[in-house]
Amino acid sequence: MTAAGLKSTPGGPLRGTVRAPGDKSISHRSMILGALASGTTTVEGLLEGADVLATAQAMRSFGARVEQEGPGRWRIEGQGGFVEPSDVVDCGNAGTGVRLIMGAAAGFPLCVTFTGDGSLRGRPMGRVLDPLARMGATWLGRDKGRLPLTLKGGNLRGLSYKLPMASAQVKSAVLLAGLHAEGGVEVIEPEATRDHTERMLRAFGAEVIVEDKAHGGKVVRHIRLPAGQKLTGTHVAVPGDPSSAAFPLVAGLIVPGSEVTVEGVMLNVLRTGLFTTLQEMGADLTISNVRESSGEQIGDITARHSPGMKGVVVPPERAPAMIDEYPILAVAAAFAEGSTVMRGIGEMRVKESDRIALTAAGLKACGVTVEEEPEGMTVIGTARGNHPVRGGGLVHTHGDHRIAMSHLILGMAAQQPVEIDEPGMIATSFPGFADMMRGLGGDLVEA
Ligand code: S3P
Repeated sequence: MTAAGLKSTPGGPLRGTVRAPGDKSISHRSMILGALASGTTTVEGLLEGADVLATAQAMRSFGARVEQEGPGRWRIEGQGGFVEPSDVVDCGNAGTGVRLIMGAAAGFPLCVTFTGDGSLRGRPMGRVLDPLARMGATWLGRDKGRLPLTLKGGNLRGLSYKLPMASAQVKSAVLLAGLHAEGGVEVIEPEATRDHTERMLRAFGAEVIVEDKAHGGKVVRHIRLPAGQKLTGTHVAVPGDPSSAAFPLVAGLIVPGSEVTVEGVMLNVLRTGLFTTLQEMGADLTISNVRESSGEQIGDITARHSPGMKGVVVPPERAPAMIDEYPILAVAAAFAEGSTVMRGIGEMRVKESDRIALTAAGLKACGVTVEEEPEGMTVIGTARGNHPVRGGGLVHTHGDHRIAMSHLILGMAAQQPVEIDEPGMIATSFPGFADMMRGLGGDLVEA
C-alpha cells in the first residue's frame, strides 16, 4: 500500500487570523541549552514538530529530564553537562538538531554515534566536523562525514574559525563546543546568519561578545565566547516562526480576494528577508502590533491579495536571511509579472533536499518557466497578459517539508489542483499546516 498524497484545489478567498507555530530554530536551541545548563528551563510555545521532538529525545539520552507539561509547554532539568548515551542518537530529519548536538557533545569526553533519516544521512556533516576536529574532537564516519558517524570529544582547545559558508548551524556548533574549550572560541562570519544561539547563550547567563569589523570595505562579524562560561536554566518564550508563517502569508497574496493575518511572527532581521523581498515586489504585506518577547521583536503580519506583484532581483547577500524561504518565494514569483532572479543560493542544494532542483521541477510540472543555475534560479512570472499559473502537476517532494507546503500553496491559486506525493514530512516543521490552511478556507484533501 502506498501512503496517500495531498491535493490542494483552487477555491475561494482565504480569510482569517492564525498564530504562527513556534520557531523551529529557537525550539531546538531551547532544548539543547536547557539540557546543557544547570537547573530548570521552562519553555512556552515550543514547536512540537518531529524535528524538535527528536532533539528532545536526544537530550534525554544525554542525561537531561525533558517533560511536556501542556501544549507547547516543556520543562527541562539540565545536569550542567552531558552523559554518554547508551545507544545511537537518531536525529530524524533535523540538520539543525544533529549539527548543534554534535557541537555540544564535542565538549565532553564521550563517544557518541549519530544517525538520522535517509535525507539527513545524505547531508554534509564535514562542515561541522572540520572545526570540531581542529578543536581536538575525533570522528569516524562515512564518506565526506556522512551519517551514521561516531564522534569522540573532550579536552578541546580554543579556535578562531572563519566560516567557509554562511551557516548558522556551523557557527552554533562551534560556539556550543566552545563552552568547554580551553581558551574559548571565536567565529568570524563573512555574511551574518541567524543569531539565535548567541542570544540564547546570553539568556542562559553566558558572555558572548559580538563585534562588526570592517575588512576591505566589507563588514565582517566576529562572535567571541570567552572560556569558562556557565549556563543556568531560564525561561524561553518561543516566538512564531517566520519560515512557517511564510506559507499562509504567500497564500493570502496569491489567492484572489484573500486577507490573512498571522500573529506573533518573529521579526529578527536575520530571518525576515522574504517579507522584505515580497514588499519590494509590491505585495500588500503589512506588519502591525510590533512588540518584544523573550528578547526578540515579534509582530502580526497581514497579507492581502496582490495581483500587481512584479518580479525582482533578490540581492544575493540577503540569502542567509531567507535561505529556507526561496521555494515559497518562487511560488509567489510565479504569480508576479516578469522575472524574479535568485542568485547566491547554492546552500539550497544541501538542505533536506536539493531545493533548487525540486523547486524548479515542481514549478515546471505546474506550467511555470524556471531557469536553473548551479547556484541560483530565475522564475518567469505568469501574470503578464493575465495567464494564471496552470497548476495540475504531481510534485515529488523527496521527503522535503518545505517543497511539499510550497506547492500545496501554489495549488490554491492555480487553475488546476496540485498534488504532492508525501505529505507526512510536513510534520517535521509545521504539524498544523493542513488544518490551518483549511481553517482559512483552503481546500486540501487526501489524494
Ligand atoms: C538553521 C540554519 C539554516 C536553516 C535551517 C535552520 C538554524 O541552516 O536552513 O533550517 O536553526 O541554525 P544552515 O546553517 O545550514 O544555513
